[in-house]
Amino acid sequence: MKEFLHNKIFQIISDAADEQNQECYVIGGFVRDIFLKRPSKDIDIVVVGSGIELAKRVSEKLGKKAFLTVFKNFGTAQVKMGDLEVEFVGARKESYQRDSRNPIVEDGTLEDDQNRRDFTINAMAICLNKDRFGELIDPFDGMTDLKNFVIRTPLSPDITFSDDPLRMMRGIRFSAQLGFFLETNTFDAITRNKERIEIISKERIADELNKIMLSRKPSVGFILLEKTGLLEIIFPEVLALKGAETKDGVGHKDNFYHTLAVLDGLCEHTDNLWLRWAALLHDIGKPTTKRFDARLGWTFHNHNYIGEKMIPEIFRKLKLPGNDKMKYVQKMVSLHMRPIVLSEDEITDSAVRRLLFDAGDDIDDLMMLCEADITSKNQDKVKRFKANFQLVRQKLKEIEEKDRVRNFQPPISGQEIMDTFKLPACAIVGEIKTKIKDAILDGIIPNEYEAARLYMLDVAKGLGV
Ligand code: CTP
Repeated sequence: MKEFLHNKIFQIISDAADEQNQECYVIGGFVRDIFLKRPSKDIDIVVVGSGIELAKRVSEKLGKKAFLTVFKNFGTAQVKMGDLEVEFVGARKESYQRDSRNPIVEDGTLEDDQNRRDFTINAMAICLNKDRFGELIDPFDGMTDLKNFVIRTPLSPDITFSDDPLRMMRGIRFSAQLGFFLETNTFDAITRNKERIEIISKERIADELNKIMLSRKPSVGFILLEKTGLLEIIFPEVLALKGAETKDGVGHKDNFYHTLAVLDGLCEHTDNLWLRWAALLHDIGKPTTKRFDARLGWTFHNHNYIGEKMIPEIFRKLKLPGNDKMKYVQKMVSLHMRPIVLSEDEITDSAVRRLLFDAGDDIDDLMMLCEADITSKNQDKVKRFKANFQLVRQKLKEIEEKDRVRNFQPPISGQEIMDTFKLPACAIVGEIKTKIKDAILDGIIPNEYEAARLYMLDVAKGLGV
């Protein structure tokens, strides 16, 4: 707490508040993060009086380097200075929601304000006025909850969640992000109130999902979403992965827990949010493609392609971006079996070239996803797979150095084919082009212009052009 007390911004707020005779506190996530020693740039200030007036005075004191924005309807103001953001709000009787569109109506005391916050660990306040500077006001003993890693609502959870049902997801997100536990009553209330999540905008839900995805161990969040019943409402496609069936004594793995193991495993190696999404969705096509065959047992034929096709609708429903990020996730899902299939067979140059060609610059991400996908209770099997996988990696490196096919552009363009044979744009041009590409990827000719030109003449002759 010492460093916090010495931060200049708090001294300035303190002076301004005393000059205006206003009681003022730093509150919420910033206070929680001081005690958790987590870096935090968003500072929330609550004023028993006018947040806007205090913000104006603070901004004057900071001079040119500060930018003030006033949201009159909401009774709030923001002061920005560099990457620091300070929000000022008058203490209120209603529930506090940062992104609520409803204007506030009633002023309240600090106690009122703390009552209407989401969790005990987010309701702690530190006084900034000179005579009480640094005094902690913690009416719900959030400090003990912090020490015991507990997420608990200050009031009865039914009230807190009905004030803002997104808090059910926030509670789960904090559990994943901070490695905390949901206190039993809080957990039960989420189960009871889960349907209320439907009144929350998809964007706010997606925001929380992304925060869960970016946490150190996202499985913590997804297991809680599943156990409380929220997953069924917000993301039924992932819930459909759950369950392991047995037929004629043959079982298959539970794809929900497998997916979470892959996701957690991947998260140890990358913070790339979209690669993490690819891990979550890599087997999303399995429930639809699942079949039982007396000879083969359980199969999930083409689940990677079906999964790839499901992604646009999933992203649209969740209001995730439908741009190149989504395309990247689709690509990863569609290719996720390729490296492992490669490692099971004899690793031919041609298969490696094709993989490099299809994955392009995303090859390293694909390999990372694929390696995380190797999960089995049988440690020998995992070891064998990982060793084969090393061979694939090595082969990829060798072929890439030799043939440079990662961002391969065929050395002969469609235009050149048309000019050479005086052809209009037609299917035959495409066919010749594909044959040249295949010959290069299969190692029949080198990836060079002259060899490709001669090959083109041969192919054209064969086609009677
Ligand atoms: N808050 C709340 N209910 C919400 C959102 C926010 O009670 N639905 C309160 C909490 O006291 C929270 C504070 O507003 O600590 C600030 O909200 P926000 O910045 O969204 O969350 P943080 O707790 O700061 O955490 P993070 O920045 O990681 O989201």
